Amino acid sequence: MEILVLISLLACAFLCYAEASTQCASDEFKCSNGRCTTVRNLCDMGDDCDDNSDEQFCDPYHCHPLAFQCLNGKCISRRVFCNGGGDQCGDNSDERYCNIGSSFPCPPGWIRCPSGNRCIPASWVCDGTKDCIFESEERNCEKNTAKAQDYVAKSEFKSLFVRKRKPGPSTDRWGSQVHRIAVALHLADNSTFDGGNRTGEEIRYELTTQLLHRLSKVRKMSSQELALYIHALLVACVDPRDFYGDGLVRELRRRVEAKGNYTNPFLILVLCNAGDTMTASDVESVTAAYDAQHRPFWIDYQALSSMALSCISSGSNVSVDERTLTDMLQELKRRQFRNGTVDNFRTTALVTQALFIHDSYKKDFDLDSAMKALTDGLNGSKSLLDTYYALPVLSRKSLLNVTSGHCRKEPVAGESTISFFLLLRLRVQEFF
Ligand SMILES: *[C@@H]1O[C@H](CO)[C@@H](O)[C@H](O)[C@H]1NC(C)=O
Ligand SMILES: *[C@@H]1O[C@H](CO)[C@@H](O)[C@H](O)[C@H]1NC(C)=O
Ligand SMILES: *[C@@H]1O[C@H](CO)[C@@H](O)[C@H](O)[C@H]1NC(C)=O
Ligand SMILES: *[C@@H]1O[C@H](CO)[C@@H](O)[C@H](O)[C@H]1NC(C)=O
Ligand SMILES: *[C@@H]1O[C@H](CO)[C@@H](O)[C@H](O)[C@H]1NC(C)=O
Ligand SMILES: *[C@@H]1O[C@H](CO)[C@@H](O)[C@H](O)[C@H]1NC(C)=O
Ligand SMILES: *[C@@H]1O[C@H](CO)[C@@H](O)[C@H](O)[C@H]1NC(C)=O
Repeated sequence: MEILVLISLLACAFLCYAEASTQCASDEFKCSNGRCTTVRNLCDMGDDCDDNSDEQFCDPYHCHPLAFQCLNGKCISRRVFCNGGGDQCGDNSDERYCNIGSSFPCPPGWIRCPSGNRCIPASWVCDGTKDCIFESEERNCEKNTAKAQDYVAKSEFKSLFVRKRKPGPSTDRWGSQVHRIAVALHLADNSTFDGGNRTGEEIRYELTTQLLHRLSKVRKMSSQELALYIHALLVACVDPRDFYGDGLVRELRRRVEAKGNYTNPFLILVLCNAGDTMTASDVESVTAAYDAQHRPFWIDYQALSSMALSCISSGSNVSVDERTLTDMLQELKRRQFRNGTVDNFRTTALVTQALFIHDSYKKDFDLDSAMKALTDGLNGSKSLLDTYYALPVLSRKSLLNVTSGHCRKEPVAGESTISFFLLLRLRVQEFF
């Protein structure tokens, strides 16, 4: 219900905005008499239009989306929002969320600013007026509601990761899923691992220390886990082919060879993304996985197989019959229900990712309702795993976009932590 209200508010904000923008500037309100006045004048109890139309929609039930509605319902001018002028609402909701920690929750229907430390009403995103500090919520706005909903969903999903981060001096802030978080954040925002981004630096540091720790402690890491780390290292610009002396890619390849046709296609996708030499038996394995109807999570595997095959066909000199890939994608499309989903939330996300291959979603697939099913799923209760699959889709990206192509030529070396790594080296060698 909340989501419906949110969406209709957004729709209204955009319609109203579109109408006003025929003559008025993007941060102005168009009065009934045709005059323009800044949106900050809405509901400030002064007649700025000379026909009082800027004061017309200011009661709690008709609060204009571009005015400010306190959490207690009071409708007042947006000018007082975060102006440091004291509590104008009566519940302090105009000053309470202005400079908060990134794990402090936003109220329902509000959204976290890109820089993380302020919450604003969701209807203010992409409305032409800047309300966030440091990084604006008015960037990357195309003037249609679908884009704005994606934007809202994307920010919500990103902040889910940030909320899970433990504050304080611990070296285990991001937890055991840091590999998935790294990949999802990179696909949502390719500047995450640019030099100087503190979030990226912290994740990269934790990723490497955690992996070294795992390699030295746990006798046998699962192949799935190893593959997840390789993906994360790729996006974080750390070389998995030579991870402090250990060839993680070579190790994964060894395990894949041992498994033959029973390999999880995700492992082959990872090998391919990491630039390993692909073989005809890789093609056999992914084809076999695609056809393995008896397997649990079969459709998930089909989506992963399609992505793996696409990677092999575009990135290596192994010959792949393009018709096989086309048939695979066509079959995936047939699994979509009328409400846009494919089985569950996660499968919908994975299948949509696969259908970005050659823009296959354009035919015989309802991308809009699939996206809607994913954006509707944002209600704060989503799991980290769901977010990992859905977040890339909102940026039109997939696991095929996991590469180190964005990295500078020189690999990033954890200078400050080198001696720590050297200490661990001996134990790591014991592992492989
Ligand atoms: C740093 O990375 C975070 C996480 O993806 C992203 O939200 C933010 O926009 C990045 N900041 C800059 C300045 O690029
Ligand atoms: C692996 O699967 C492919 C395709 O389904 C099949 O042609 C091949 O014989 C299988 N290989 C083995 C060793 O089972
Ligand atoms: C791929 O090409 C390289 C050289 O371009 C060659 O050495 C290699 O044998 C080829 N691999 C296959 C499987 O054809
Ligand atoms: C979509 O439809 C399928 C099949 O009718 C159903 O199982 C599923 O619960 C529906 N999903 C949503 C989100 O409505
Ligand atoms: C949030 O979504 C889950 C399914 O993903 C659903 O079960 C739950 O009822 C939703 N909660 C609210 C408050 O809408
Ligand atoms: C993501 O991957 C797809 C498929 O490989 C490719 O076509 C697309 O250009 C990539 N997008 C970006 C932004 O790199
Ligand atoms: C990052 O994404 C932006 C747009 O989202 C694009 O213009 C830019 O080329 C991308 N950079 C890289 C290195 O892929």
